[in-house]
Amino acid sequence: MSSQKGTVLITGASRRLGLYNARRLLEAGYRVIATFRHHSSGIDELKQAGAVVLQSNLDETRSILNLIEQVKSITSDLRAIIHNASGWISDSDNPQDNEPLAHLFKLHMEAPWLINRSLYGLLKNYPETADIVHMTDYNALRGDEHYAAYAATKAGLESLTRSFARLYAPKVKVNAIAPYLIIMNDHDQLAAAENTLHIPPMGLEPGEDVIWQSLSYILHNPYVTGTTMPVDGGMSLR
Ligand SMILES: NC(=O)c1ccc[n+]([C@@H]2O[C@H](COP(=O)([O-])OP(=O)(O)OC[C@H]3O[C@@H](n4cnc5c(N)ncnc54)[C@H](OP(=O)(O)O)[C@@H]3O)[C@@H](O)[C@H]2O)c1
Repeated sequence: MSSQKGTVLITGASRRLGLYNARRLLEAGYRVIATFRHHSSGIDELKQAGAVVLQSNLDETRSILNLIEQVKSITSDLRAIIHNASGWISDSDNPQDNEPLAHLFKLHMEAPWLINRSLYGLLKNYPETADIVHMTDYNALRGDEHYAAYAATKAGLESLTRSFARLYAPKVKVNAIAPYLIIMNDHDQLAAAENTLHIPPMGLEPGEDVIWQSLSYILHNPYVTGTTMPVDGGMSLR
């Protein structure tokens, strides 16, 4: 599997931002390996457009390790890994229930940890500088009273961004993108979500392309590593 622009592994490509960015990567001439948990029409579309699609449950260690072996059997080098898969899961009301934290630890931290360490050899084989991009969240460092497990594990992923950036320079750049609300979730209450949209100074629902622009900037800039890029409509001004 080879392409002039190299092969990119992107997780959670079945819908929304992952699907959008996988499409844009294909249009830009990259080979794409796209992972999904639940099959979707978007996955069929990516496959038809030439992507290799792999099913993986990234909150199960065995499934993560299996994905790693599958990627190694498909390609000998990687231009980039984009950790997009994520669970927007609120904290449990039961104080003894550890499930959301355990689940999100695996998905947001263990999966990137295992994938980055196991596939570093493929990134190193890429003839030019390669990239790892972690999708985090505006709330990662701020915290969230109802999504504490989500925010904490995204904060952990921001820490891993800096550790891996130190470890893998200069061969591989490692950066995070930390969005505020980009597109609303179907299950978000419309009124509440619309209020949320108006909090940042920019006050709009920007749509997926602002993430593609950020991703594209990171992939093309040879001197940016260990950063977390806010894409937040100016929330730091609040
Ligand atoms: N959209 C926003 O406004 C926004 C704001 C802040 C941060 N972000 C970050 O940007 C990224 C993309 O956001 P999004 O809104 O497009 O996310 P999303 O709609 O929640 O989609 C998440 C993706 O992750 C996959 N996924 C979830 N749990 C998984 C698991 N256990 N194993 C494997 N895959 C799993 C889902 O797969 P299935 O559909 O197959 O289950 C889906 O493709 C995420 O990292 C998110 O935290 C987004």
